[in-house]
Amino acid sequence: MINAPVRVGLLGCGNVGAGLVRLLTDDPEELAARSGVRLELVRVAVRSLARERRVTLPEDVVTTDAEAVVTDPDVDVVVEVIGGIEPARGLVLAALKAGKPVVTANKELLANVGAELFEAAAAAGVDLLFEASVGGGIPLIRPLRESLAGERITRVLGIVNGTTNYILTRMTEAGAAYADALAEAQSLGYAERDPTADVEGFDAGAKAAILATIAFGVRVVAGDVYREGISGVTAADIAYAARMGYVVKLLAIAERVGDEVAVRVHPTMLPVTHPLAAVRESFNAVFIEGEAVGELMLYGRGAGGLPTASAVLGDLIDASHNLRAGGSGRTTPRERARIHPVDEICSQYYLSLEVADRPGVARDIFAVLATHNVSIRAMEQEGLGEEARLILITHLAPERAIQATLADLRDLEVVDRIGTLLRVIGEE
Ligand SMILES: NC(=O)c1ccc[n+]([C@@H]2O[C@H](COP(=O)([O-])OP(=O)(O)OC[C@H]3O[C@@H](n4cnc5c(N)ncnc54)[C@H](OP(=O)(O)O)[C@@H]3O)[C@@H](O)[C@H]2O)c1
Repeated sequence: MINAPVRVGLLGCGNVGAGLVRLLTDDPEELAARSGVRLELVRVAVRSLARERRVTLPEDVVTTDAEAVVTDPDVDVVVEVIGGIEPARGLVLAALKAGKPVVTANKELLANVGAELFEAAAAAGVDLLFEASVGGGIPLIRPLRESLAGERITRVLGIVNGTTNYILTRMTEAGAAYADALAEAQSLGYAERDPTADVEGFDAGAKAAILATIAFGVRVVAGDVYREGISGVTAADIAYAARMGYVVKLLAIAERVGDEVAVRVHPTMLPVTHPLAAVRESFNAVFIEGEAVGELMLYGRGAGGLPTASAVLGDLIDASHNLRAGGSGRTTPRERARIHPVDEICSQYYLSLEVADRPGVARDIFAVLATHNVSIRAMEQEGLGEEARLILITHLAPERAIQATLADLRDLEVVDRIGTLLRVIGEE
């Protein structure tokens, strides 16, 4: 039997908010029968009443006063899909303090000021749910937190930004230059006019912090994540990588190192045989490695109004059941993670060097590598004369050693220019 409706207050009605309105209003009877809860949209806050929307909202439901939605005694549950830190932070805090569960899709908010919000949720004994904040429509948070609750997770590798995955796919498959692939992504609406948050890895960094927090049960914030974007990757790097059996992906990597956690985002070379190598265009996927479960991968649409709204709706149903049952179903880690210093992280590296085309060049370069105990796993020489390049893949080495190697290589007379440095994941 379905109880009285749970009354929903929605903050924001853009891509995700409008998607949620559609899912809530298309066939409410069927949704109630399927979910066991009747959800009623009672208030919607937007920035501008004049803006044209993909969904029709009754006049008495819409307002520009978001605070009034949060404090309305007729609102039982609040959904925040405004984005950014303020006013979202203040609104979410006010809702939680008023004892109302909150569902949010806002990774920026959680990765930066999540601790304050989770404390407020715990103090009020209500849910703060955020499935849609990582991987859009892909269920990630709930599988990690619930299905894998007993699993000791060792590493999580994620393609969690669709814009950069689209750009890298075009560079790989059509040989496009970075700038052209970015322009194409912008014309298709995959990239913002200012693409910095995506291409420089900020968006993936916030998601990496959230994934690491849930996977390892210790609190990781955006500032803990080492971050490099894809704007320095060239079509030539991607072509060399392909010839050596690799693809280049922007990966969010969270791993346990002893009792510490290393979290980073950077362009990474993956063997073509790795399941993540097959994730093309704007799709997302997260590859999880656990001690008992082994390897598993979750794949799907990491963004888009409807896929993201689907994840928000799942949380909304969950929060509504918990509210009816009289409380919160979740706890979120409070203890701060001990972060493994980035210069101690060990990796294999790809290095492209523009070099003089004459005898003895390789010898001089190897001598520098040997000084820092960096050994070579594969090497190719490309081009002749002015075009001569040395492409190297190293064995595992600490970041500190590779940075010291680069500094010395810069001083070598036979090295004209040091190209991209990429981390490589694969068999040692
Ligand atoms: N889009 C995706 O695919 C996706 C995927 C995963 C997660 N997310 C996250 O979901 C959230 C929303 O994203 P979105 O793409 O839906 O954003 P969006 O299209 O820009 O929509 C934002 C909405 O918030 C409203 N708004 C802004 N300031 C407001 C204020 N002060 N008071 C009340 N309403 C306000 C806007 O009103 P107006 O309509 O009047 O301008 C708009 O309806 C973000 O945190 C984003 O990171 C999005």
